[in-house]
Order: sequence, then structure tokens, then C-alpha cells
Amino acid sequence: MLHLKLRVVLFLPFRAVPQKLKPVCAFSSLSSASSSPLPSISINYTPWPGLKPWRQSPLNEDRLWGPNGPEPLQRSSSSAPTVQSAVGAASSLAEMGAHVLSTADPIAKAELSHLAFSRWRNEKLPVGAFRAPDRPARPPKPELVSPKEIPSPKDSSLPLNAYMLHNLAHVELNAVDLAWDTVVRFSPFAEILGDGFFADFAHVADDESRHFGWCSQRLSELGFRYGDMPAHNVLWRECEKSSDNVAARLAAIPLVQEARGLDAGPRLVQKLVGFGDLRTSKIVGRIADEEVAHVAVGVDRFISICQRTGRPPSSTFKDLLKEYTIELKGPFNYTSRDKAGIPREWYENSCTGKHEEEQQLSVVHDRLASIIAMESENSSLNGRC
Ligand SMILES: *[C@@H]1O[C@H](CO)[C@@H](O)[C@H](O)[C@H]1NC(C)=O
Ligand SMILES: *[C@@H]1O[C@H](CO)[C@@H](O)[C@H](O)[C@H]1NC(C)=O
Repeated sequence: MLHLKLRVVLFLPFRAVPQKLKPVCAFSSLSSASSSPLPSISINYTPWPGLKPWRQSPLNEDRLWGPNGPEPLQRSSSSAPTVQSAVGAASSLAEMGAHVLSTADPIAKAELSHLAFSRWRNEKLPVGAFRAPDRPARPPKPELVSPKEIPSPKDSSLPLNAYMLHNLAHVELNAVDLAWDTVVRFSPFAEILGDGFFADFAHVADDESRHFGWCSQRLSELGFRYGDMPAHNVLWRECEKSSDNVAARLAAIPLVQEARGLDAGPRLVQKLVGFGDLRTSKIVGRIADEEVAHVAVGVDRFISICQRTGRPPSSTFKDLLKEYTIELKGPFNYTSRDKAGIPREWYENSCTGKHEEEQQLSVVHDRLASIIAMESENSSLNGRC
């Protein structure tokens, strides 16, 4: 029964109507789900060697970009105590995450993120269960527009380095919310997913909040601030699409969106060097480097879910991209992607489906439908707030 339940939670949209079931949502076979051993899946995967050290690393307090790189922020009494109290008074990780998501001010959001992760680490709080807000709170500026409406670097009032930094700040702030949303939204399934899952994504949120802080600091050194030009809202759309399925969330965010950062990072660094802004290029280089951990976490968690449910990761990943219309764009930086441990056959068309036997998917609608109905009932019961 546990295996069955696991498959349901991990792969079926828990709020979707059963008619929407497509083969990818189905069990690979119901008989193997109810009997003990799951089909063993051989996976060609070299995990990023830094993953374990990253998980075990102490709290990172280097929230300032000093003359020679990251350094700890000297805590002043300036951080807003009223906002802090909501996170400071919360009794679970999910509750703290929900408060971070509901905080509109970007600097406060970043600080609260760190407070939340620090409390989770130091006070051994439970994951808890909490309802995620539909969308994260955002400041009135930047104005969120469609990508077409974003001015090109030439038409922007910002110089190229500040322009690129502003874009990156926006990506990092979104990443804070995306990671907390994953923590909070799937918190009713903590027993199934395990505490480690939530520890990983809270840790990702903490890293991203530090990155946002560096970008924001550097923008102000250049005489600008986050909000000085419009930004787009496409990153959050991917998050919304995958709100009902944890495997789809992993595919959309760490494995596609964050992996895209691995491709783009080194180019951005080169452009900043070309522009002559070495300080910004160092910040961006460091951020790109640290993003490897986040992609590696996504790969590891995705594979673990696939293993536990007896699914071949490569075709499962591709099926999820299709089902959730998640676009995979190149050009790929193979060096960075290999380092993060994303198997090439997941994202390279030329290898599609060749290495894997297509699983015979059998859909047993009626039985699934009732399980999903129960599951969604339980998830709405568990989600408080
Ligand atoms: C790919 O990423 C690596 C860092 O992992 C970098 O050294 C290299 O220059 C990048 N290649 C391209 C083509 O951007
Ligand atoms: C829902 O919760 C009830 C009570 O906690 C439990 O007995 C039942 O098995 C749960 N259903 C599912 C599908 O998890």
C-alpha cells in the first residue's frame, strides 16, 4: 500500500480530475505496485560529488560581497523586527516558508529566508504542513510584463552591466520563491517525501536569497536598485503549472530552469568582463558556480522518486516536459551539465528513447480515481492556514 500511495502522490496531480489522466500519470503496472519488489531501474548517473558536502555544509553567513568576495554581514539592528516576528514565531518549516512567500519587500524576503533556514537548522523544527499562497507577494516595482515588453539593453536606461545584474536579481528573487513554494506546497506529503527533501529546498532558498543580496548590493553600488526596469513573469508560470505534481515541479524548476542558468552563466560572465566590470563578473561567476548544487539536488531527488516508483527517469522526464508543456532550450553547456550530473539523454533529442525500453503503461482509471480523490481530500485536510 505504501508503494501504491507513493506512486499516487509523486506522480499524480493530487488536485486534478481523474479524466485528465494521461499515460504518464498512470502506474507502470498496478500489480507491481501492490506486490513487494519494484522493478529495478538501472540508471546511468554520476552524481555531483559536491552534493553531500553541500548538504552537510554549515549555515552560510557570507551575505555581503566584500572587497575580495563573499564575507559575513555584520548584523546590525536595522532588520525589520515586525516582519521578522512572523517567521520568528512560526513553529514549522512550512509555516516559515509561507511567511517568506507572503513577504513583498525583496530585501525583507531575502532576510527572512535566511532567518527561516537558520531556525530550521538550529532549532530542529518539524517540516509541518501549511498551505502555500497562490502566488508570492511582490513589490509594486519592478513592473511585471511579457518578455517582449522588456526593453532591450540598447533601449534601457540602465548601462549593460546594471541591466544584466537587474535581470539576474530578478531570477534570483524568483528562485527564492520557487524553492519555498516547493517546500510549502508539498509539505502535506512530508511523511512520504522525507525531511531531506524539504531540507534540500529550504537550503536552495537560502542560497538564492544570498545571491539576491549580492545582486542587490552590487546594483546599489552602481547607483541603481532592483525595480528600476520592468521584469518578466515567465519563471513563476512554470512553477504554477507544476503545482500539482512534485515530479513535474522538479522537472520544470531545477532540471530545466536552473539548468538553463548553467548554460547562460559563463556567457554572462564573459560579457561582463568584456564590458569591463570585473566586480560584477566575479559575483555572477560565483552565483553560476553555486547553482550547480541546485541542479544536482534536482537530479538526485528526481532519480530517487523514479527509483522508488519503478520508473525510468529519462523517459519520465521527457514525458513530464510534454505533458506540462515545459520548453527545453539550448544551446547547452555540456561541461556544466555533466558536472551537475544531468544525464545527457534526458535533454538531448538525438538520444530520445533509444536507451530505454518503453514501459507498458496500463491505466486503471476507476481504482486510481478513488485513490486520487482520497488523497486530495487528505491534502486539503492537512493543509492549514
Ligand atoms: C561552460 O561552462 C564552463 C563552466 O562550467 C565554462 O568554463 C565554459 O566556458 C562554458 N562553455 C561555454 C561555451 O560557455
Ligand atoms: C487519508 O487519511 C486517513 C486518516 O488519516 C487515512 O486512514 C487514509 O488512509 C488516508 N488516505 C490516503 C489515500 O492517504
